Amino acid sequence: MGDRIFLSDDEFPRQWYNLAADLPGGMLPPLGPDGQPVKPDQLAAIFPQELIEQEMSQERWIDIPEEVRTLLGRWRPSPLHRARSLEAALGTSARIYYKNESLSPAGSHKPNTAVAQAFYNKKAGVKKLTTETGAGQWGSSIAYAASLFGLACKVYMVKSSYEQKPYRKMMMETWGATCVPSPSRDTKAGREILAKDPSCPGSLGIAISEAVEVAVGDSSGGTKYSLGSVLNHVMLHQTVIGLEAKKQLVLAGEGLPDIIVACVGGGSNFAGISFPFAADKIAGAQMEILPVEPESCPSLTKGSFVYDFGDIARMTPLLPMYSLGHSFMPPTMHAGGLRYHGMSPLVSAGVRQGLFSPRAVAQLDCFEAGVLFARTEGIIPAPESTHAIAQVIKEANRASEEGREPVILFGLSGHGLLDLQGYASYFAGELGNFPLPDEAIALSLGCTAEFPKIA
Ligand SMILES: Cc1ncc(COP(=O)(O)O)c(C=O)c1O
Repeated sequence: MGDRIFLSDDEFPRQWYNLAADLPGGMLPPLGPDGQPVKPDQLAAIFPQELIEQEMSQERWIDIPEEVRTLLGRWRPSPLHRARSLEAALGTSARIYYKNESLSPAGSHKPNTAVAQAFYNKKAGVKKLTTETGAGQWGSSIAYAASLFGLACKVYMVKSSYEQKPYRKMMMETWGATCVPSPSRDTKAGREILAKDPSCPGSLGIAISEAVEVAVGDSSGGTKYSLGSVLNHVMLHQTVIGLEAKKQLVLAGEGLPDIIVACVGGGSNFAGISFPFAADKIAGAQMEILPVEPESCPSLTKGSFVYDFGDIARMTPLLPMYSLGHSFMPPTMHAGGLRYHGMSPLVSAGVRQGLFSPRAVAQLDCFEAGVLFARTEGIIPAPESTHAIAQVIKEANRASEEGREPVILFGLSGHGLLDLQGYASYFAGELGNFPLPDEAIALSLGCTAEFPKIA
């Protein structure tokens, strides 16, 4: 066996794994405008029925429809790589493996849920999807998935990323979608923000407001909203990553990993690779599971566990999550997909219950790690994925210093071939770090003070 471990087509999972069924401390419910737990019909304006059921499900295993399996089978199961060249460059005693999600049509893990979401929307008779995107990975993934099912698609792309990554927009257009910079003049939410700040660089929280507003505004029900992260059903769809990795590690002659690492924006690639292993940790296995975020947008490491809105215009339910406050405006760093004020409620619950131990890393360390990875393993990682790599390097170096030989598994969530402007700015010495002062966090969390408190 070489350094890549493959699975055959029929080893591709037939069911998704739902962590909500096993979380020892359970989950708090999302709250509606009346302060009461959201009922399924309150979500019907934006999501089709089957996704709402998945969102609220407590079932441990949920069948993957055969049509979805077939479409995901165009690039899955994804390979697991042993990072021998990176190990050699570090001179580490750790054995490092990574799950390569960069091989999907859009270049990341995001199509794993985009295909499932487009499938359920099509089945429910929906004609058009609206969505937000940060770095453009999600927008291009949903554009691709919409094209598979003949759905129209409109993407609100965070303006700072829209300007940094013009080719992402072209990908979306090639798959037949429309992409506009957010904040836009299309929506009330966008116009209000632009009236206050005409040069606003945008944020995921603003782009979500715009996309939800358009879906809710179509009274025919023909337009629905699609989210690329954060929600339970998105975490669920991504678990194919970890389910495959579990089988692949056994084929590689390893048992369970000692350390699992993935970057977190809204939490989906982290959930995908880690949740199937979290089930083993809940059952007693020893494992460190590390979600890694930017120090400039540190919802898990410096935010508070509160009820907060998922968007700036307060259109989503109140979610129980680690947050920096829905009005938080993250610095315009290059990992656009990690510029989100909140975090998946499932990931947040796992952190609160001690299953996951979050870490924050600095932008310059991430690019340095990304460059080392490219020069050793060959793949140029997405700036988001470099956060995982930077943490893996720290863990591998620490293991060597302490004479340990851990198995480290990490998620390579995507390639950075359309993010080269970030690398160019790094090489030109134009990038910096943006540690967030505690006072700024306290100020931005102020907007959650009026919401129901969590004990
Ligand atoms: C390549 C890549 N990795 C990670 C993320 C972060 O999202 P999530 O936390 O949902 O995986 C993004 C988001 O756009 C992304 O494009």
